[in-house]
Amino acid sequence: MHDPEHDPDWPDVFDILEERDVEVVGAGLDVPAPELAALHTLLSAAERQIADRYKSERDRAHSIVARGRLRQLLGTRLGVDPAGVALEVSTHGKPALGSAHHGAGLAFNLSHSGKLAAYAFTRRRAVGIDIEQLRDIPDAERLAARFFSQTESDALRAIDAGERNRAFLACWTRKEAFVKAIGEGLTHPLSSFDVTIAPDGPARLTRIGTVAGDSLGWSMASFRPRDGYIGAIVTSDD
Ligand SMILES: CC(C)(COP(=O)(O)OP(=O)(O)OC[C@H]1O[C@@H](n2cnc3c(N)ncnc32)[C@H](O)[C@@H]1OP(=O)(O)O)[C@@H](O)C(=O)NCCC(=O)NCCS
Repeated sequence: MHDPEHDPDWPDVFDILEERDVEVVGAGLDVPAPELAALHTLLSAAERQIADRYKSERDRAHSIVARGRLRQLLGTRLGVDPAGVALEVSTHGKPALGSAHHGAGLAFNLSHSGKLAAYAFTRRRAVGIDIEQLRDIPDAERLAARFFSQTESDALRAIDAGERNRAFLACWTRKEAFVKAIGEGLTHPLSSFDVTIAPDGPARLTRIGTVAGDSLGWSMASFRPRDGYIGAIVTSDD
């Protein structure tokens, strides 16, 4: 049986960011057993099957909570029963609302890491979100050389060693949020665009393909969802 520690610093659902019409909400993934059972009742048969594929009880529980909370948050915003929210999946795996809900113009994306999930909501725009638990990345420079652009990889090498993990994860979340906003995920080459990497500096997209500049049609922001985590969100400008 999943046995979550009850941690009062981890409310079930909490606001992370609200700017213009973009909203980011967090949810702790370790919940008491009765809550887990209640969230399980909201899932579709396919979602239950996905959860059941996890070997570890903790991963199964996290999958149920992440999906169950998504349904609750969407249900509230759409004014429908959470279990009745129709969800579809695009070619590259991005979940979206089914056609029954298209009139609402609501777009969303989600990410999970460690014991946290983060959900982004907006209206009539594309959105992508990524969060990561801060951790040691011993091979950050090698990973950057392999996946990041030359500009980002050079910038990472120039950063103090003590800040390199956080800079790597800042860059990673910004890049993941963009490829999730366009819906392509990691099928989109991460080296084909540049983001800023300073973890405490402004999060910006500075190049897409051969076009560099400040107005590339996307807005990017970094945020700290909880101590020990870092996150980024990308929305299309219209
Ligand atoms: C999707 C991907 C960006 C996820 O990144 P990650 O950091 O491992 O995980 P995150 O927790 O941040 O995000 C996972 C969530 O992103 C969403 N997601 C999945 N594919 C997505 C996509 N192409 N675009 C946007 N969001 C996507 C899902 O909601 C998923 O959570 P869920 O499976 O619980 O519903 C990455 O794993 C990827 O691109 N994988 C390959 C995608 C692919 O081509 N799949 C082909 C189908 S098998």
